[in-house]
Amino acid sequence: MKKIMTAAVLGLAITAAGAMAADGGALFKSKGCAACHQASVDTVGPSLKKIAQAYKGKEGDLVKFLKGEAKPIVDPAKFGIMKPQLNTTKAMSDDELKAMAEFMLSH
Ligand code: HEC
Repeated sequence: MKKIMTAAVLGLAITAAGAMAADGGALFKSKGCAACHQASVDTVGPSLKKIAQAYKGKEGDLVKFLKGEAKPIVDPAKFGIMKPQLNTTKAMSDDELKAMAEFMLSH
């Protein structure tokens, strides 16, 4: 009986840890961002490489952009296409946005 209880508690702890550490790459795909942003080639949107270059060392600014609190710096002329996507990112938690920003900057 004691063993079963321990296993149950451990299982819960592991599940909670998994939910806390947001996976930036998985979020980027599940939120539909990958439809317009490829790793290294520009498609509808600029490549992740280009975004990473523009925001190098500025993860905070990138999170601000995703919250709709900062102006675009990569390709402002095409911001009209990106703007509606901010409705998705604005609804995400700070942890999720941070994880996604880290994923983008890793390119
Ligand atoms: C319908 C196509 C499309 C989708 C979907 C899309 N984007 Fe974009 N994105 C663009 C375009 C076009 C630009 C270039 C305009 C600009 O720089 O704001 C852009 C620019 C960006 C930039 C650079 C911002 C800057 O400073 O210029 C970031 C960061 C970004 N997208 C993140 C995301 C994330 C995260 C998602 C998913 C929630 C996403 N995009 C979904 C088309 C898209």
